[in-house]
Amino acid sequence: MRTLNVHIKDKAYPVVIDTALFSRIKWHDIFGPPPVSCALITNTTLAELHLPAVRSYFQKLVPQFAEIILPDGEEYKTLATTGEIYHHLSQAGLDRKSALIAFGGGVITDITGFAASTYMRGVRYYQIPTSLLAQVDSSVGGKTGVNLPEGKNLVGTFYQPDGVMCDLSFLETLPPREFREGMSEVLKAGFLAGGKLLRILKEKTRELSSGIQDILEEVVYLSIDYKREVVEEDELESGIRAVLNYGHTIGHALEKAAGYGVLRHGEAVAVGMVGEAIIGKNLGFVDPGFISLQEEMLRASDLPTKVSVPVSREIFFQALRQDKKKEAGQLRISIVKESGKPLFGIKIDEDMVSEVLPALCEVVEP
Ligand code: NAD
Ligand code: GLY
Repeated sequence: MRTLNVHIKDKAYPVVIDTALFSRIKWHDIFGPPPVSCALITNTTLAELHLPAVRSYFQKLVPQFAEIILPDGEEYKTLATTGEIYHHLSQAGLDRKSALIAFGGGVITDITGFAASTYMRGVRYYQIPTSLLAQVDSSVGGKTGVNLPEGKNLVGTFYQPDGVMCDLSFLETLPPREFREGMSEVLKAGFLAGGKLLRILKEKTRELSSGIQDILEEVVYLSIDYKREVVEEDELESGIRAVLNYGHTIGHALEKAAGYGVLRHGEAVAVGMVGEAIIGKNLGFVDPGFISLQEEMLRASDLPTKVSVPVSREIFFQALRQDKKKEAGQLRISIVKESGKPLFGIKIDEDMVSEVLPALCEVVEP
């Protein structure tokens, strides 16, 4: 069992990483006194696969235990679903001393965090992330949110959890495509952090991408530890936290322009990292050696470096213009100069993006 502690302002919380965690974990020793009442929020997929073990753990721990099972899918990460969660919580008699427990991938952890930050003006909130992406990225840092029809994550809060339990054994049932998509965020962390994480990833990319390995625990630990370091320095993304958006500006626009469902988020980020690295190289910042290393590692992970369907230039740029990371209309990206040396706040314009677009997809002109 590996534990790390995240310290943000006046709050500190433990993140525990292990396999078969629920057969071993002693709540009191790690998280202190358990709540008297709690609601576990999950989706139908996770409920079918893993709920009995998790339920039995919490039923023994917490006197009043409720479950809320949501439909599975990003399309349910909405204000309407949040409203339903509030009703369930209220009907189950949950009060300000209660806790919410998110059990699922990033969709469940984001919406549960959002509900926890707003129900009764904020209740305790624990995460049990079950996808690789949620374990290495959304588990730490306190971004919560829901989507609007106008775009993803447009409503949300910064609300740090009270504890995180990453049980790698849940990943055994994660479909291979979702696992690889999580690897994209792991590789992103490796490129940004450099050092030991990148060394392990370079040596073991192919094995890691094929599923759970002994080394995965170390890789998850180091990825979370890197994110911990960044968010401890800049919780609210007024500076260095923007490096975590590497690949996301072009990635989000490609995801939308390719049509949701064609590219999964992590796949879009993989192609986005390729594009943003080329822009960085064209601006004279990025070492060409890094570009080849990145492409080699993405390919070894079976992640795309190019979109497989034609993409409309018009729709792509519409999506890019809606980027919520823009400041005063100015697009900015983060880049990696060389492994372990990220830069953020690089101002770019549409011409620079236009120049790299043909390297990322077949462009359909209007
Ligand atoms: P997801 O939650 O939709 O999970 C992907 C799929 O895998 C779903 O069908 C889910 O039910 C299934 N699944 C999850 N764990 C499983 C398991 N152990 N076994 C079998 N199936 C399992 O998507 P995701 O990729 O985990 O997360 C994406 C979401 O996370 C997006 O909404 C994104 O905005 C958000 N996100 C948030 C942050 C943050 O910092 N808050 C960071 C990155 C992404
Ligand atoms: N996923 C990016 C962040 O947490 O800032």
